[in-house]
Amino acid sequence: MVERQLAVAILAAGKGTRMRSNLPKVLHKLGSLSLIERLLRTVLTLGPHRCLVIVGYQQEQVRQTLADYPVEFVEQREQLGTGHAVQQLLPLLPEFHGDLLVINGDVPLLRAETLQALVERHRQVGPRVTLLSAQVADPYGYGRVFCDAQQRILELVEERDCTPAQRQNRRVNSGVYCFDWVALAQVLPKLTSNNAQQEYYLTDAVGWVGKAIALDVSDPQEIVGVNDRRQLAQAHQILQDRLKDAWMEAGVTFVDPDSVSLEETVQLAPDVIIEPQTHLRGTCRIGSRTRLGPGSLIDSSTIGTDCQILYSVVSHSQIGDHVWVGPYAHVRPHSQIADYCRIGNFVETKNAQIGSHSNAAHLSYLGDAKLGSQVNIGAGTIIANYDGQQKHFTEIGDRSKTGANSVLVAPLKVGSDVTIAAGTTIPPRQDLPDDCLAIARPHPVIKPGWRLGIRSTHPLAPKTPSVGSLRIYPLRLCPGQDLKQELEQFARQQPLQAGFVLSAVGSLTQATLRLADQTEDHLLVERLEILALHGSLCADGLHLHLTVADCQGKTWGGHLRPGCLIYTTAELVLADSLEHRFSRQLDPTTGYLELQIEQAAADPSPPLP
Ligand code: UD1
Ligand code: CA
Repeated sequence: MVERQLAVAILAAGKGTRMRSNLPKVLHKLGSLSLIERLLRTVLTLGPHRCLVIVGYQQEQVRQTLADYPVEFVEQREQLGTGHAVQQLLPLLPEFHGDLLVINGDVPLLRAETLQALVERHRQVGPRVTLLSAQVADPYGYGRVFCDAQQRILELVEERDCTPAQRQNRRVNSGVYCFDWVALAQVLPKLTSNNAQQEYYLTDAVGWVGKAIALDVSDPQEIVGVNDRRQLAQAHQILQDRLKDAWMEAGVTFVDPDSVSLEETVQLAPDVIIEPQTHLRGTCRIGSRTRLGPGSLIDSSTIGTDCQILYSVVSHSQIGDHVWVGPYAHVRPHSQIADYCRIGNFVETKNAQIGSHSNAAHLSYLGDAKLGSQVNIGAGTIIANYDGQQKHFTEIGDRSKTGANSVLVAPLKVGSDVTIAAGTTIPPRQDLPDDCLAIARPHPVIKPGWRLGIRSTHPLAPKTPSVGSLRIYPLRLCPGQDLKQELEQFARQQPLQAGFVLSAVGSLTQATLRLADQTEDHLLVERLEILALHGSLCADGLHLHLTVADCQGKTWGGHLRPGCLIYTTAELVLADSLEHRFSRQLDPTTGYLELQIEQAAADPSPPLP
């Protein structure tokens, strides 16, 4: 016996007004595939003799999307209804004597077994049409199917044409039909648009074609038609539930299935654990015992066994076994991360090949690079791969380590067992031989007493610049301050190491001097100009001589003693030699505390990383 031929017609010419979209409805995506592709893939598994797709609204886009599928396109220039769509087949199937499976293009979740069962039932029972029906909880929007006890269809009524009583019927038309084509071809020309929507209904043909039976689908979720965004979301949910159910059956744990999404192209090994808020897209393969999430996106990537991917994004990359990624890592395309690596917080890799047992645990960018095994990338290491015009490549040998905050400017070749000190920038092409230390780090400038010393007692004194090995302290004293006391305090607080006075001018209301070879102080109470101040100061004490002039220009000079009080101001510039160290020690020959001068200790060499 010759097998009856089967042709399939998919109705995909409508705009899908209720989607409120410029994209034809059948091209909206459900996961990675458009509605029509999803349906087509199922349909093609039946091996139909011909597969016809009726196109109209934005047909170029639909034709393009389906360009690689073995289908014939049939144009429905005006979209006057589902019946009108099928009428377009009349000139194309003149010699056809088999069955025509008609399927609405917006029913993406149909299973191949269901279609197979429909065709088989049709051929067993032998009516003119077998319609796939479903008993649904919420029949709103669907045409209602009225049958007798033998499942013979008495009437099909569209939602809009239903009476309130008819609307109560929960048996709906799925939009999938198996017709005897010859019988259908006879009634198609007779369709009219005499209904609420003024359209040519294919459902009318069901009523006229002769014996019509209904076959209920066992899972009513399969026949969800996508007419609006709500139904699109509903279809998405159903698809996700199906996929997750199948993977749970296969030994995968979903901690919170509802918060996870995946595509059919994902392969999960038994004992994979998927934590909440995790999404898998594209062709992915995940190995046993790997834990994904929470909060991760895996796109078109392969991940080995026993890995953990925590709050991270992995895209178009390969990850080996026992690898930890995240939290908050970004593994960008063409990264290959070998076994036992650790890619930590705020680490970004791109086109990076990373050998086994290597770590980049914190705050790094590794782009266009090849790292050996057991490499340790210090916190904040950046590979500067882009010079503003071109990307360049970096290689780092086995067991090499980069210090915190180092910058490797590509192109660069770093040998094996290399140590790069923290804070070091390696310029481009400065290749590093095996087993070397590379260090480039500015020496720190340390300014003692920066906040608590000078600023609190002398609010007007600016920051101290240094000139060679001198540090310079300009300061200003204010009315009423005691010149000697202020300088002593300043020398102590800095502390001055080997200080001396570079310049001093100002005025006094009184001066106290010890004149040459005298034991008593000499007090002058009048307005005086400070002409000069000379001598040395250090934390131990000071030895200064002051010259002042009175209102007639007569000068007095001697040892600076307490009791020189500022009249308007004193402007001083002090210097401190960093190469010397002054102290004051009792000299038995003079009986005074005399100046001791030492060479200051050399700067300590920088510590190794
Ligand atoms: C149709 C059925 C309804 C059924 C439901 C199931 C009719 C009259 N009604 O209603 O009984 O319960 O499907 O989902 O058939 N199309 C064309 N050309 C046109 C009009 C539509 O190709 O001129 C295509 C659309 O692109 C769509 C499919 O036919 O893919 C169904 O059209 P739609 O308007 O969604 O029909 P429903 O109102 O859902
Ligand atoms: Ca529909």
